[in-house]
Amino acid sequence: MESNTLFVLALFALSFKKICHHVHSLPLGINMEMDNSYLQDRQKIIDKEYLTRIGGNLVLTHAEDKVNQILMAAKDREIKDSFYNGVPFPPNLHFFEAKPAIENSTVFQLIKKMPKGGALHLHDCSMTDLRWLVKTATYMDNCYMCYDQNKKINFHFFRSPPQQPGCPWHPVSFYRNQTANVSVFDDMLYQSMSLEVTDPQTSYPTLDAVWRKFEEVLMRANGLINYAPVFAAYYYQALKEFMEDNVQYIEVRALLPEVYDLDGKIYTPVQVMEIYRNTTVKFVQDNPTFTGAKVIKTNLRFKTPSIIKSDIIASAEMMSQFPDHFAGYDLVGQEDPGKPLLYYIDALLYPSSHQPPIYLPYFFHAGETDWEGTSTDYNLIDALLLNTTRIGHGYALPKHSEAMMMVQKQKVAIEVNPISNQVLKLVDDLRNHPAAILFEQGFPVVISADDPAVWGAKGLSYDFYEAFMGLAGRDADLKILKQLAMNSLTYSAMKTQEKAQALDMWNTKWQIFINSTLEEYDRNKNLKTDLVFIPNLPKDIVG
Ligand SMILES: *[C@@H]1O[C@H](CO)[C@@H](O)[C@H](O)[C@H]1NC(C)=O
Ligand SMILES: *[C@@H]1O[C@H](CO)[C@@H](O)[C@H](O)[C@H]1NC(C)=O
Ligand SMILES: *[C@@H]1O[C@H](CO)[C@@H](O)[C@H](O)[C@H]1NC(C)=O
Ligand SMILES: *[C@@H]1O[C@H](CO)[C@@H](O)[C@H](O)[C@H]1NC(C)=O
Ligand SMILES: *[C@@H]1O[C@H](CO)[C@@H](O)[C@H](O)[C@H]1NC(C)=O
Ligand SMILES: *[C@@H]1O[C@H](CO)[C@@H](O)[C@H](O)[C@H]1NC(C)=O
Ligand SMILES: [Zn+2]
Repeated sequence: MESNTLFVLALFALSFKKICHHVHSLPLGINMEMDNSYLQDRQKIIDKEYLTRIGGNLVLTHAEDKVNQILMAAKDREIKDSFYNGVPFPPNLHFFEAKPAIENSTVFQLIKKMPKGGALHLHDCSMTDLRWLVKTATYMDNCYMCYDQNKKINFHFFRSPPQQPGCPWHPVSFYRNQTANVSVFDDMLYQSMSLEVTDPQTSYPTLDAVWRKFEEVLMRANGLINYAPVFAAYYYQALKEFMEDNVQYIEVRALLPEVYDLDGKIYTPVQVMEIYRNTTVKFVQDNPTFTGAKVIKTNLRFKTPSIIKSDIIASAEMMSQFPDHFAGYDLVGQEDPGKPLLYYIDALLYPSSHQPPIYLPYFFHAGETDWEGTSTDYNLIDALLLNTTRIGHGYALPKHSEAMMMVQKQKVAIEVNPISNQVLKLVDDLRNHPAAILFEQGFPVVISADDPAVWGAKGLSYDFYEAFMGLAGRDADLKILKQLAMNSLTYSAMKTQEKAQALDMWNTKWQIFINSTLEEYDRNKNLKTDLVFIPNLPKDIVG
């Protein structure tokens, strides 16, 4: 036990050499007679591994280095609380249980302020805070709800509702007016569209169980979101929330669903795409330091091949109709029970086999599974053969040697969504997330949030926190965060010119982040309160 602890201390001391440039002596207890060349060989291996990691070969400026010390002191303190003092380690808790501790974390506060670039994997109906949706949509005129036979709520907007005996419609205000406490009622509406529970392990015993509930809550929210006036406002609010979380660009997987209005008008997919474009343009006009957004058209991996084929043809047309806002195509829905990419292969090969070839980049969800050797698992191979631009999740990728090489060689970015993978039950302890291997080996990785609203997250910071604290190692520092932020713009669907402008903008934001963090630190360091930014280098590291 004792020698184990000493070993760990030595390990910490040596691996922190890079961060604290003042490690002079070994911690007490290490055998000084130990062959010095052994330790040097050991260090060489550690240094070499460090260089291959994501961000490993970035060189920090003097100011960045100071911010790094502040960040790493906080990270170290938080890890030590768990490693030595038994404080639950947030990445090892279910997100619903970890959330208060994450919000309390200094590392999280720093990550929130950090310009994180783009969020490249988000879904149309689960990216905006549900509290906003309840407060806005359910208070609008003409908003109706009903309870079906299973006492489940449905929402819809009507000028005057149709008779529906199985689920009789009443204005939401009719129910709200009857309740003693409006905030309790609104909370109930919120819960009806969220996966949040206090006992996730018992409420969701299996992956299939959580997916059933996931699809149910999304469908319920769609009753509100797909009403045209809500639809545009919901999307505008999503852009606002990501901007407030210091994200400057997003890419949205969008079904382009049947958006409706009170006159019974059903918007066509092209008209829904116009709403996205018009709202994006308006948002960027209102917020010139926001880069923008693009849409990746999705359809369900349960539809027939002929539906998918005509959707692909229509999507290729939208590529040219919306050159600045339409990015490509993907298939969505629970992957294990869904149809594999191979099932749609004729449709999916149609653009490249057409003469002349039709331009439609793919952004496939693939390998979102724990089941190796299944069709979901092999979706990774098809995604790569179909020249996917990025892979959504790619959770199973490290189980495939050849696919790993292709990803690395062709620079196919893997969109890692840590909280999604945990809540949707692929992994419990995020230190065991397979993408840790991709981090370690410097793969093209971006961090995203998938469906943050449904699990009570907001923006990108929660997922960045889990990636930084859980997937990346104890000594992964500001460099990995900086590289992940830059990756999110580099591997975006933006055109070369757009990317250059976005990276310029990001750079300015990054400089401001570095400067303001140092300023805040300087302002606070003389105060005797428990300040956010006091570096508190532990003794065994300083040496
Ligand atoms: C927040 O942090 C403080 C100080 O580190 C700690 O005492 C408190 O228990 C934490 N609260 C939560 C909810 O983690
Ligand atoms: C609910 O109460 C508000 C305010 O008192 C009122 O304007 C509204 O008509 C009521 N709604 C219904 C359906 O009774
Ligand atoms: C309504 O419920 C909330 C929390 O459930 C509580 O904080 C609030 O005090 C209640 N309001 C009234 C008027 O009872
Ligand atoms: C989008 O904006 C264009 C140009 O201003 C306008 O013609 C079009 O009707 C708008 N589309 C929608 C769906 O609002
Ligand atoms: C993928 O890209 C390769 C190399 O550019 C090309 O030969 C192949 O035809 C492409 N396949 C598809 C399905 O687009
Ligand atoms: C950051 O601080 C440096 C040095 O103090 C200064 O040269 C630079 O202009 C500042 N940049 C921003 C964006 O504030
Ligand atoms: Zn997704």
